[in-house]
Amino acid sequence: MTSKQQNQNRQKQQAATLALDYIESSMIVGIGTGSTANFFIDELVKIKAKIDGTVASSVASADRLKNHGIRVLELNEVGSLPLYVDGADESNKSLHLIKGGGGALTREKIVASSSDKFVCIADDSKLVSCLGDFPLPVECIPMAQSYVARQIVKLGGQPILRENFITDNGNIIIDIHNMQISEPVSMETALNQVTGVVTCGLFAIKPADVLILGNQII
Ligand code: A5P
Repeated sequence: MTSKQQNQNRQKQQAATLALDYIESSMIVGIGTGSTANFFIDELVKIKAKIDGTVASSVASADRLKNHGIRVLELNEVGSLPLYVDGADESNKSLHLIKGGGGALTREKIVASSSDKFVCIADDSKLVSCLGDFPLPVECIPMAQSYVARQIVKLGGQPILRENFITDNGNIIIDIHNMQISEPVSMETALNQVTGVVTCGLFAIKPADVLILGNQII
């Protein structure tokens, strides 16, 4: 591991630890997906007796939680959640995010949308002035692949199918390359309206509420 990666991991760990401060007694906590969310799951073990359970945004996170002896509930049993904690691939200063590098964007957006507060945890390399250097993931219905790709070109991006990848929902992901996203809310709205798109990885209409980068709360 390079020293840069070691530093990023240290910051992810610090952010995960700080996120514990947002947890109150008897909460049911929404849990994200990815390496930073994994640090958070590992931290959650320390206070698992304090919470009533969790709702996971992916099969991978649900498995990790269960392996730690943490209760995992279905979102439909629970209704709204007080708190969602997850990582991001990029954030701007308005806390608009790109998510879905791990492919869990749809379930992440469902759990985030169902939550009163979204605490995003990351290392400081994730903060950017303009979203879009990280390819924007779009989950779509398989038979719509070609149509969705053509609409992405019209919106100014370069669509590239994520090879050998099927989401937890049985769909494909098209990653949008080479598109600087200066108006994240408008772009999220436009992508949401393309028939065949299930979800795009922009979290701008409902951004994060808190961004923790390492030991800094933004
Ligand atoms: C998973 O689908 C993603 O949205 C992750 O939250 C995002 O890719 C951040 O991942 P890392 O915490 O591994 O950087």
